[in-house]
Amino acid sequence: MRLKNKVALITGGSSGIGRGICHAFAREGASIVFVGKSPDKGRRTEEELLALGADAVFLQANLADRSVLPGIVEEVIKKFGKLDILVNNAQTSKNVIFEETTEEVMNLAFNTGFWPTFILMRTALPYLKVTKGKVINFVSAAGMIGLSKQSSYAAAKEAIRGISRVAATEWGRYGITVNLLSPIANSPGVDRLQEEHPNAYNKMVSLIPLGRIGDCEEDIGRAAVFLASSDADYITGQTIMVDGGTVMVR
Ligand SMILES: NC(=O)c1ccc[n+]([C@@H]2O[C@H](COP(=O)([O-])OP(=O)(O)OC[C@H]3O[C@@H](n4cnc5c(N)ncnc54)[C@H](O)[C@@H]3O)[C@@H](O)[C@H]2O)c1
Repeated sequence: MRLKNKVALITGGSSGIGRGICHAFAREGASIVFVGKSPDKGRRTEEELLALGADAVFLQANLADRSVLPGIVEEVIKKFGKLDILVNNAQTSKNVIFEETTEEVMNLAFNTGFWPTFILMRTALPYLKVTKGKVINFVSAAGMIGLSKQSSYAAAKEAIRGISRVAATEWGRYGITVNLLSPIANSPGVDRLQEEHPNAYNKMVSLIPLGRIGDCEEDIGRAAVFLASSDADYITGQTIMVDGGTVMVR
């Protein structure tokens, strides 16, 4: 129960890694508000979390609509009275080569990833100051090593990394930590890759030193629990690679 009495807001929590984090947080006693686009998937995950005994609320919203973002933080405060942990996990993007990356493609990655992360962090700050809160944002090897066909995704993720480091610097004085997770895990996004581009999927797995794709809850969710817990009080501004060694060991 390392997150007992903690209140967490998790974006993209209905499926994939976000759902894994919701489950891992629920098992550690956190109260959870999670945001997702699909009402069906959201309600299903909410039921799973309630069955685990967690106080969990699903909020249906399209994070690309910037006008709804401040209201999401206010909903958390209305329901639980405080915010301890903000996890910016949601992201959408389209894979195309650089010269076919239109402004529309670039905007999709920024509108679903960068802007929600930035605006939710800014809106949450007054509440995180009170709790000496933790922010966990998501990045990707795509930006760090420059994966082909991912310019918009890489750009949005590295923009998230940039503002996270600045926030870590500025918010340290409030006892707020801001860290990044760079995962590899068997989310529906990766399942789609396996179905649609088996060669690319097999190549990705072959480059993982630990020889397997991570699990959304057991691998990524547990790492998020660590960063959200008091065990990580003295860690900030870091990018934690939860990718079986893929980027750092080759
Ligand atoms: N799975 C991996 O191996 C991997 C690798 C590197 C980085 N990441 C990052 O980890 C995070 C989670 O990845 P995933 O694989 O679980 O992704 P996913 O595509 O399987 O799930 C993303 C979640 O975000 C939600 N979402 C996306 N756009 C939204 C919007 N506009 N409004 C509301 N919700 C929205 C989706 O509904 C979904 O629940 C992402 O930030 C991703 O970029 C994942």
